Amino acid sequence: MNTPATADELRAQRKQEAARHAASFVEPGMVVGLGTGSTSAFFIDELGRRWNREGLRFKGIPTSERSAQQARELGIELTDFSEQTRIDLAVDGADEVLRGRLTLIKGLGGALLREKIVAHAADRFVVIVDDKKLVDKLGTTAPVPIEVTPFGWECAAERLGRLGARAPKPRMDRNGQLYVTDGGNMIIDCHFGPIEDPLYLFTEIAKIVGVIESGMFLDDVSEVLVATEHGIDRLTA
Ligand code: 5RP
Repeated sequence: MNTPATADELRAQRKQEAARHAASFVEPGMVVGLGTGSTSAFFIDELGRRWNREGLRFKGIPTSERSAQQARELGIELTDFSEQTRIDLAVDGADEVLRGRLTLIKGLGGALLREKIVAHAADRFVVIVDDKKLVDKLGTTAPVPIEVTPFGWECAAERLGRLGARAPKPRMDRNGQLYVTDGGNMIIDCHFGPIEDPLYLFTEIAKIVGVIESGMFLDDVSEVLVATEHGIDRLTA
C-alpha cells in the first residue's frame, strides 16, 4: 500500500504544477524570461516539453548560465537584449515573500542581478513559491543578497554593517571558494533580521557605492503563485 504523501511532498508537487501552469501562459512568438533555481527548472522543463512535443516556438532570455544550459539542452532557442529589450513574460522562484503582498527577496541562487534586469524588462513577471516562503516581515528567514563589485567590497560591507547587516561577508561556495556571479561580481548575504521598512532599507542599500543590486524586489512582480498542500493560491496586484 502506498504511504500518503507528506505535507512537504504535496507542496513540492503543487510547486511543480504551478510551474507547469506558468508554462501554459507562453504563446507562440513570445520572448520569455527564464528564471534560476529549482522552481524555474520545472518551468524550463515544461517549456522544453512544449517546444519538443507541441512545436511551440518562442525565444528565451535566461537569467543565469545554469538556466541557459538547461534551455539549450532542451533545444529551446535563446536570445538576449541585443536583439530585444522587451520581454512578454518572465517566470522565476523566490526566497521569501511578504504574506499577501507582491514584495519579496530573491537571489539565494546567486542570479539576482540578471533576474532583476529580466523582471524589469518583462510585461508580466510571475513568481512561484511554496507557502513555507511566506513571511510576515522580509528578512525573517532569508538574508538579503546584495551583489557588489569586487573592488572595494570591504567599503560596501562596512556600510551595510552600519545599516544593520550582521557581520556582512562575501558569499563562499560549497568548496569554500569565493562565490563569483555570472557577471563576475561578489554577493554579500546580509542578515538584517525582520525588516520593518523594506523601502527605506532598499533605498539606503542602493545609495552605497559599489552595490550593483539588492535581492529586494519591491515593485517588479505582477503575480505570485503560492503552492500549498491544498492547491495553488494566486496573488495579484
Ligand atoms: C536565484 C533565485 C531563486 O529564484 C530563489 O533562490 C528560489 O530558488 P528555488 O526555486 O530553488 O527555491 O532567486 O537567484
